[in-house]
Amino acid sequence: MNILGIETSCDETGVALYSRERGLIAHALHSQVDLHAVYGGVVPEIASRDHVRMLLPLIRQVLGEAGIAKPDAIAYTAGPGLIGALMVGGGMANGLGLAWGCPVIPVHHMEGHLLAPMLEDDPPEFPFLALLVSGGHTMLIAVRALGDYRLLGTTLDDAVGEAFDKTAKLLGLGYPGGPALAALAERGDDNAFAFPRPMLQKPGFDFSFSGLKTAVMLEVRKAEAAGVLCREDVAASFQRAAVDTLVARAIKAARSHGLGRIVVAGGVGANKLLRKEIAERFDGSVFYPRMEFCTDNGAMIAVAGALRLTEAVPADEIRVQSRWSIASLGVPLPVQ
Ligand code: KG4
Ligand code: ZN
Repeated sequence: MNILGIETSCDETGVALYSRERGLIAHALHSQVDLHAVYGGVVPEIASRDHVRMLLPLIRQVLGEAGIAKPDAIAYTAGPGLIGALMVGGGMANGLGLAWGCPVIPVHHMEGHLLAPMLEDDPPEFPFLALLVSGGHTMLIAVRALGDYRLLGTTLDDAVGEAFDKTAKLLGLGYPGGPALAALAERGDDNAFAFPRPMLQKPGFDFSFSGLKTAVMLEVRKAEAAGVLCREDVAASFQRAAVDTLVARAIKAARSHGLGRIVVAGGVGANKLLRKEIAERFDGSVFYPRMEFCTDNGAMIAVAGALRLTEAVPADEIRVQSRWSIASLGVPLPVQ
């Protein structure tokens, strides 16, 4: 049974073919980063148009590589995300579903991230704690079973990926700033600035990154005025503060909920320091997707669709929503 996965929620067009029996068969990704870089962030209209341009060629490529004419079901990202961009994937999924006579499965983008480690050879068993860290979300979720998601904490302001991107912009790095900032940080001293570890003193598991962002901005202005700005040191100190916060909060949440496994997923899950620190400091097991499946991709949507096959619907109505809480998802009926 083959499931075609389609991801178009933001600035990557991702397509993959996943077999329930054989695992991931083929995948392709087109990044729009170059198109948006000149504007310093994602321009929704440009994103939608580029998904229109790239989606069908990528589907052809993936089916061609897999050597099949059509899949048995189509999973697509139905939200959360940019509504126009989601409509492109939803429209294509339903159109192809009608043409091929196969069902479609609307998938929650963050559930896709959360299930991305299921694509690896050593997937996590339930239950686990999920640390979902992307450009739009920062969440700690107690995952008892597929679809049984209890949101323990979220960010009160900026997402951690957004904090990386904004700090990178402040340092004159391009968009998206996360990977560029992490690369710059490798050459800096992470003790140079004592940036705050936001919320660590507070009870609960929420995050806040706006205070850290402001602290970085003030130090950068001060150092610039004095003519002594070392961008590497700022990058390293910021990254250390952000990672310390994520790791401390995640480990505390796992311990207090008796969870011995942590899954780290979402774009910021590609951060090497985050991966290293959480593995070193947590006494249980840590799981991640491979680097390329941390950021947006079609494979995670295909695998999530395969696990939610019982929720496949006839292709007739394009279901998309820009806002959609992961905690509202339910436990699907088991796939036979
Ligand atoms: O999951 P994703 O591809 O898209 C969203 O759903 O948001 O995440 C993108 C985010 C961006 O903010 C990007 O800067 C960040 O992930 N990111 C990183 C790294 N790679 C990507 N942040 C820190 N370190 C990285 N290595
Ligand atoms: Zn994402």
